[in-house]
Amino acid sequence: MVEISERLKKIPPYLFVELDRLKNEKIKEGADVIDLGIGDPDIPTPKEIVEVAKRALEKAEYHRYPANPGSLFFRKACSEYMKRRFGVDFDPEGEVLALIGSKEGIAHFPIAFVNPGEVVLCPDPAYPVYHLGTIFTDGEPYYMPLTWENEFLPDFGRIPEEILRKTKILWLNYPNNPTGACATKEFYKDVIALAKKYDFVVACDAAYVELYYEEPPLSIFEVDGAKEVAIEFHSLSKTFCMTGWRIGFAVGRKEIVQALAKVKSNIDSGVFTAIQEAGAYALSHLEEIVPPLRKVFEERRNFLTEELKNLGFEFKTPKATFYLWVKVPEGYTSSEFCKKLLKELAIVVTPGNGFGASGEGYFRIALTVGVERLKEAIKRLSTLKN
Ligand SMILES: Cc1ncc(COP(=O)(O)O)c(C=O)c1O
Repeated sequence: MVEISERLKKIPPYLFVELDRLKNEKIKEGADVIDLGIGDPDIPTPKEIVEVAKRALEKAEYHRYPANPGSLFFRKACSEYMKRRFGVDFDPEGEVLALIGSKEGIAHFPIAFVNPGEVVLCPDPAYPVYHLGTIFTDGEPYYMPLTWENEFLPDFGRIPEEILRKTKILWLNYPNNPTGACATKEFYKDVIALAKKYDFVVACDAAYVELYYEEPPLSIFEVDGAKEVAIEFHSLSKTFCMTGWRIGFAVGRKEIVQALAKVKSNIDSGVFTAIQEAGAYALSHLEEIVPPLRKVFEERRNFLTEELKNLGFEFKTPKATFYLWVKVPEGYTSSEFCKKLLKELAIVVTPGNGFGASGEGYFRIALTVGVERLKEAIKRLSTLKN
């Protein structure tokens, strides 16, 4: 057998193998497993979006290759959304790019900027694609711990000068998966100053920016100077319960967006135009479509945070995202505790160390089941013995 590449060998083994095995065993035994592990909304895509897609499917002109950077009508809808929501102008012709889901753009982005040995600053814990995309370009991920004490924001003062000098990209993700934390304007001001000083790109993952319960989370572009250094990745997946459709977009400084566009034009052939039509419709009607969806997740968040507090669990109530990042009770590692929940209570949650070394000591709950199931989960958790 031909050897796989050194690059691929560097990709760490999938951390949830053992947990997946246990889960499947439980299901086979006939246990009523409550899965709070997956960050995939259980709610179907709103009907009106599906109807737009159905009609778009009939358009013969859409059956051919899509426009590579996205159809202009889709990019205009993205640009209008950025203006309405964040008050920032983006030229749909050069500063907006359609993505086959934001994961695709995030994974490919380092190809545009990172040479072998150059550094990419990655949050830890985090969505793993930031460091995996870095490894695929032979770049060096440098992990920035997100700690409880620092409100799950990176502490740039702890990054050595020689690392900052080799840095090409800084990844940020607020509202944050898995911690549920949000960024402040002050934080983004510091980020922009640092990026200008050391000449790197700030890449913000805004996948959860519409899933909020308190004041609307920021885009980095609401802060002066961001347009000089940043690109932001948006997703329609969680906002509109469209994870299966594969559509997102990037906005930012023209040269940065165009560098990614050049990479993509040599790898993929764009997003199916019928899906772009549904996506444009969704973005243009966000203010009517999203509030009822938000309400569903808010009800779950309110129920679960209240009940978990009563049971003595420690966490910061998330202002956004559909995740709870909870401290593991004393005496257990993340893996041990998650296995215990699965074995004894048939509840699936995600061990924090699966998101990086700094996630040890935590577990993540996804609010992707209804309140009735959450009630059952709480009933079981209240019987938990040491
Ligand atoms: C933080 C974060 N970013 C990006 C994504 C990818 O979303 P999509 O590719 O569906 O747009 C996810 C999905 O779970 C995520 O959690």
